[in-house]
Amino acid sequence: MGELRLVELSASNIVAANSLTLKPGQEQYVAPVSHSIAEAYVNPITAWPRVVLDDDEVVGFIQGNFDPESDHEEFKGCIWSINVAAAAQGRGVGRFAVLSLADEARSRGYDRITVMFEPGEDGPEAFFYRLGFSSIGETQYGETIAALSL
Ligand SMILES: CC(C)(COP(=O)(O)OP(=O)(O)OC[C@H]1O[C@@H](n2cnc3c(N)ncnc32)[C@H](O)[C@@H]1OP(=O)(O)O)[C@@H](O)C(=O)NCCC(=O)NCCS
Repeated sequence: MGELRLVELSASNIVAANSLTLKPGQEQYVAPVSHSIAEAYVNPITAWPRVVLDDDEVVGFIQGNFDPESDHEEFKGCIWSINVAAAAQGRGVGRFAVLSLADEARSRGYDRITVMFEPGEDGPEAFFYRLGFSSIGETQYGETIAALSL
């Protein structure tokens, strides 16, 4: 693993970001990157789409949403989506992406970030808890809402 960098989603990395592959069983826990890119396109003010580069290779994608005016208190500053390439998982890329998003949130004056995920085997629950998130509730569909204090 070389030096990790977080860069804006752009014309030069969008195809690679959209081609990130996951490990078998993980697809059910995260929408395809193309969905996040579409969301970012229609929510250009609040969406924060970023790509993780290992040297010049795209190894991850994270999308935040920073919307202080949101009606939903728990989603004013949140992770919408995160994917790490199958071959790059378990080497700190996800942690780097989440902590980078946390830095951005802190610089915008947030005192916490949130994330929503489906509990289950092969899911991201243990990852988020390992990074210090704790559960703060559940959606009506049974997804866990977790928060990280900054
Ligand atoms: C969840 C995901 C982003 C984690 O990325 P990653 O780069 O593999 O995670 P990291 O290597 O940065 O792991 C950070 C820590 O979490 C732990 N961790 C990561 N995944 C874990 C898992 N499935 N079970 C237990 N611990 C896990 C790591 O061991 C590491 O712990 P350490 O402090 O002992 O080093 C990645 O597995 C992924 O893309 N999953 C599929 C998509 C997904 O579910 N996204 C979430 C939708 S909201």
